[in-house]
Amino acid sequence: MSIHKKDFKKITTNVLQEMKRNGEKISMLTAYDYTMAKMVDMAGIDVILVGDSASNVMAGHETTLPITLDQMIYHASSVVRAVDRALVVVDLPFGTYQGNSKEALNSAIKVMKESGGHSVKLEGGAEIIESVQRILTAGIPVMGHLGLTPQSIYKFGTYTVRAKEEEEANKLIEDAKLLEATGCFALVLEKVPAELAQKVAETISIPVIGIGAGSGVDGQVLVTHDLLGMTHEFSPRFLRRYLSLFDEITGAIKEYVQDVKSVDFPNEKEQY
Ligand code: KIV
Repeated sequence: MSIHKKDFKKITTNVLQEMKRNGEKISMLTAYDYTMAKMVDMAGIDVILVGDSASNVMAGHETTLPITLDQMIYHASSVVRAVDRALVVVDLPFGTYQGNSKEALNSAIKVMKESGGHSVKLEGGAEIIESVQRILTAGIPVMGHLGLTPQSIYKFGTYTVRAKEEEEANKLIEDAKLLEATGCFALVLEKVPAELAQKVAETISIPVIGIGAGSGVDGQVLVTHDLLGMTHEFSPRFLRRYLSLFDEITGAIKEYVQDVKSVDFPNEKEQY
C-alpha cells in the first residue's frame, strides 16, 4: 500500500484501538531520521517508533542505555517533520523516568513540546506505574513495553527469550493488566513465547504489538534497518529481512570509489 495526501485517515490511539476491535493487524516500524521516516510513512505504516534502539543503530553503542533525552528529541523531531499519517511514538530513554514520577512527567512533556511526537513509550510494569500514571494525567498517551526490556539488559544479563517460566509469565500478565487499567493505549511485547503473547492479547482490550512474540498478537514491530538488511551482524530468529541493503550499499560505494580513481566519474555530461 502506498499513501497519498488527502486519501488517508491520520492514525490516532483511538484508530489503533478500533483496529484491534475490528481484527485489523497493526504495522509498526522504527525510524530515527527524516528521510527514512518519509519512506516508512509513505509506504502506509500505522505507527512509527522513534526507538531508543537509535543508540545502537545510529550511534553504534552496544546497548540502549547511553542515549540521552535531547538526542531522542533530535531524532523524534526529524521524524515528525516527515510524517503525515502514522502515529509517532517516542521512547523515553533510560534514566529519564524510572524511580521518580515527577522527572518522568518532565521528560515526557519535554519530548512532546520539543519533538512534536504524539505519544511516549516506557519499559516496565508495576515498578514504573507511578510514572505512567503521572504522565497520563498530563494528557500524554503512553505505550507500555514488557518482556525483553533492553534498558534492563544488565539485570537480565542476556537478550534471550523472556517469561518462559511460569512465575515470570504470571508477572507479565499482571503487569499487562495493570498497564491497561492505568490507561496505556497499547503495549509492546518483546521476545516472549508466542502462546503467552497470544494469551496477553486475548486478555487485555488494548492493542498488543509484538516483536519476536508470534502471530497471535494485534500487530508487529521491527527495527527498519534490520528489515532492510542495513544491519547485518544481528540475525535473531524473529527477523525477516526484505532486502540486503548492507551488501547493495557497500557494492555501490565500491563502484563509486573505482570510478573516482579511474577518472570515469565525472564524465563530460556530469560537469558544467
Ligand atoms: O527501541 C526500539 O526499537 C524498540 C523496539 C524493539 C520495540 O523498543
